[in-house]
Amino acid sequence: MSDKYYYRYATKDDVDLIYNWANEKEVRANSFNSNEIKYEDHVRWFDRILSDKEHNVQLILMCDDTPVGQCRLSIDNRQATIGLSVDKNYRGTGVGNALISNICEWVRENRPDIKTLIGQIKPENEASAKAVINSGFVETYRNYELKL
Ligand SMILES: CC(C)(COP(=O)(O)OP(=O)(O)OC[C@H]1O[C@@H](n2cnc3c(N)ncnc32)[C@H](O)[C@@H]1OP(=O)(O)O)[C@@H](O)C(=O)NCCC(=O)NCCS
Repeated sequence: MSDKYYYRYATKDDVDLIYNWANEKEVRANSFNSNEIKYEDHVRWFDRILSDKEHNVQLILMCDDTPVGQCRLSIDNRQATIGLSVDKNYRGTGVGNALISNICEWVRENRPDIKTLIGQIKPENEASAKAVINSGFVETYRNYELKL
């Protein structure tokens, strides 16, 4: 882990933080379902994500004491699809690269049962594609994969 960035587990107190990040314009545009998210739906969804620990890990990327982004693992057997975003005020400064490299390290250390990470990225989302490639992901028919 870098000295500056680290992951912590999200808690129920992060419900609004994650909501505001998820509903931000660019995040919606780069998601496969681009519809605006209703707050009540988000609260229900977030509660499910935090409860279903077998299939979900929601992490917040901290830079010193500031939350700067999030990464969620959707786990299916020995593979996990990653969902990620960086707070819009911190984009374009290397946080995305840090977010991906740190999640690879986090999974190796904390979830060695997960053997493949998958990033599903829209073709126009160059920043995401570059960030995963910089951490060793390889483009496949299923988008981008990293064997751990
Ligand atoms: C995608 C995202 C996570 C990247 O985070 P970021 O902090 O902006 O990325 P970084 O500054 O670390 O840059 C990562 C790489 O993309 C490049 N990059 C950054 N912004 C870019 C842009 N607008 N267009 C093209 N490349 C870009 C950087 O140069 C860097 O590549 P390099 O290190 O090889 O030079 C962030 O922009 C984001 O949250 N976007 C909205 C949500 C989203 O798209 N989520 C991912 C869905 S799959």
